[in-house]
Amino acid sequence: MDASSTFAQDAAQAMERFHCIACGHLSDTASQDFRCPQCHDLLEIVYPAWKQRKPEPEQLTSLWRNRRMLMNDADLSGVWRFRELLPTVGEDQIVTLREGNTPLYELSRSARTLGMPHLLAKHQGMNPTGSFKDTGMTVAATFARRAGFHWVACASTGNTSASVAAYAARGGMRSLVLVPEGKISWSKLSQALDYGAVTCQLRTDFDGCLRLLQELVLRAPVYQLNSINPFRLEGQKTVALELLEQLEWEPPDHIIVPGGNLGNSSAIGKALLEMHELGFIARLPKLSVIQAAGANALVRTVRDGGRQLISVQPDTRATAIRIGNPASWKKAVHVLEATGGACEEVSEIEIARAKAEIGAEGIGCEPASAVTLAGLKKLLERKFVKPDETVILMLTGHSLKDPDYTIDFHRGELFKGTSDESAAAALNPLRHPPIVLDATLDAVLGALDQAEKS
Ligand code: F0G
Repeated sequence: MDASSTFAQDAAQAMERFHCIACGHLSDTASQDFRCPQCHDLLEIVYPAWKQRKPEPEQLTSLWRNRRMLMNDADLSGVWRFRELLPTVGEDQIVTLREGNTPLYELSRSARTLGMPHLLAKHQGMNPTGSFKDTGMTVAATFARRAGFHWVACASTGNTSASVAAYAARGGMRSLVLVPEGKISWSKLSQALDYGAVTCQLRTDFDGCLRLLQELVLRAPVYQLNSINPFRLEGQKTVALELLEQLEWEPPDHIIVPGGNLGNSSAIGKALLEMHELGFIARLPKLSVIQAAGANALVRTVRDGGRQLISVQPDTRATAIRIGNPASWKKAVHVLEATGGACEEVSEIEIARAKAEIGAEGIGCEPASAVTLAGLKKLLERKFVKPDETVILMLTGHSLKDPDYTIDFHRGELFKGTSDESAAAALNPLRHPPIVLDATLDAVLGALDQAEKS
């Protein structure tokens, strides 16, 4: 197959359909709220045509590798490079910022401390707007534009809003973002403003924003770009494909992801199940989901048997995952069960420690991403993960997404006035507060000396 293989011929015959995850209803179209017309549950995209024209692992893995040499927009995108496993669209229709293509880093210091030979982190914070959302947004924004929408919208804890605003601007559409007032990082908000979104800070939490958006899209010609939109999850699947490619198609033992609204874990899980079914990998990695203890709806739901959602009143400084009523909980329970993964919760202190440790590797991430390292420690303790197994941590957001958190941490202010204040003293060795000095050589040499001794 030619590496630049045509979109157009594929686009002529759409291969995907919408499938209800609860009642199994199949359809060729979806309504604006992306809910099943029969039972109102979530939809996923399925590819019945794969049964007649099965994607061939050997052919495709070499095609995808060859595309890395090509310079056209679609092949420079770490999402559209894998287009054979995505919904079909013409190449000239895609809205892309060259997302994906994110690095896989060794966390050698953490590995050493944990007694593991290796520990790897896939840093999705290295996407165009600084989070994993871009991999889904390129696909969903493409289909929004193709459907002729002028407005796109989302509810968000911050990262989705930045990504929606950027892709809408690139695609010549307008964007509306609904965020909880006061509970998101200004850095993320500043991106939405810069990319031209109509930004509404609502006096509610994320769950309230999402509820309102679901009503809005049924009343106005606005296309919703939350991860309820199954096109988003198809794009986010490619993170798993790219990871497997980076591992030369040798699956890891474990993949660990943070859990908020649970779209990402669902997408990665869907990719793994498809890859396994199609014969790209011989065994399934276990996909585990980690939540902040203050926003642990999935943890509680799984403990309760996983058949009904136990929602919570969320509270965590990892604001990206400050979600109490995760929309994709059923999909996440399914991938946990199907891959044999675990679900864990971590405390605010554990998150802060893990974030500082990832920072000390010269990598950094936002607090919500650090739950993966904190969760790994718990999974090792539980012996769910063995030290000699291959583990991938999914770092979902860039360190600069929430600089206030980092600064508060290093200045020793993160836990001031909270019930964790005295326990936080244990984090002091990880803090590197700035030092204010007279501008003299002696003062700087003194600081160097002091640092050498500590
Ligand atoms: N990590 C980061 C950095 C996030 O921004 C999010 C979600 C998650 C993890 C959790 O992913 O929701 O798919 O389980 N952020 C959303 C937002 C909710 O609006 O930006 P999830």
